[in-house]
Amino acid sequence: MLRGWRWHVAERVLVVGAGVVGLSCAVRLLESGHQVDVLARDLPRETTSAVAAALWYPYLVEPRERVSAWSAASFETFAALAKDEATGVRMLRGRELVAPGAPAPWWGDAVPDLEVGEGEWRFTSPVADMPVYVDWLAARVGKLGGTITRMNLAALPELPGGLVVDCSGIGARLLARDLSVTPVRGQVVLLEQWGLDTWHLDDTDPDHPVYVIPRRHEVVVGGTAVEGEWSRTPAPAVAQEILRRAAVLVPEIAGTRVVRHKVGLRPARPQVRVERQGDVVHCYGHGGAGMTVSWGCADEVSALCAR
Ligand code: BEZ
Repeated sequence: MLRGWRWHVAERVLVVGAGVVGLSCAVRLLESGHQVDVLARDLPRETTSAVAAALWYPYLVEPRERVSAWSAASFETFAALAKDEATGVRMLRGRELVAPGAPAPWWGDAVPDLEVGEGEWRFTSPVADMPVYVDWLAARVGKLGGTITRMNLAALPELPGGLVVDCSGIGARLLARDLSVTPVRGQVVLLEQWGLDTWHLDDTDPDHPVYVIPRRHEVVVGGTAVEGEWSRTPAPAVAQEILRRAAVLVPEIAGTRVVRHKVGLRPARPQVRVERQGDVVHCYGHGGAGMTVSWGCADEVSALCAR
């Protein structure tokens, strides 16, 4: 008999949720040797993540100190991923209009080429073409030996001897019985691409964010932020108003063909919850910043699963 020999048995982990946060957690956990299965009501392309304009930008997310660290870690990972076209991630330069006299942004340390001007910030930021990116993440889960299964859970699963990672987004209201998670409805209009390769954001009215963010074959135009609104049905009048405001920012929008209308429900919470409770690691409440904080949160979830 071999003395001192221990079989290394990878700990089994069930990840609940297949949005950008769940998939990124699954990837990090697989990379650190866990056996991972993802269970989700919505498959990756059906999630709120797939709707997101997915410009790296800490929006509707707290607390600032933790978000700064998660966002900075994610920025670096996205910059590396952008070297591979298959990921759907690109580093794009853009400009944000801000109120005159606005102080430098609290997340600015994460952004190497930030230029703070009067009433305007300019910087290069990761932009993910989310349908492509969530497909890439899902394929990476598969290549690393994980699985993704559609399952409509009424409660968090139990896994004797293993761990459950709860990345259920808005589903945490039911699964973690956490009513502090609330939807903030965002509607977007997808336009045919006309050659735009810079992003544009107008943040001067926090109740009416305006953004124009290019994907490779489409341009995502937004947006809205309606707290407590659950409807996933795009409203034609809202779409018209989005296009009207966005055309002030980027005049080429007027006359460009509309491809699709989409709605996503951002899972807002007063503070993101990333913490371990016994054999459950919670990771939800990312507001409008799921993509932005995804890798930083996944690193922390992976560390919480290791102890
Ligand atoms: C959004 O949640 O709609 C959003 C977040 C960051 C940048 C642009 C849009």
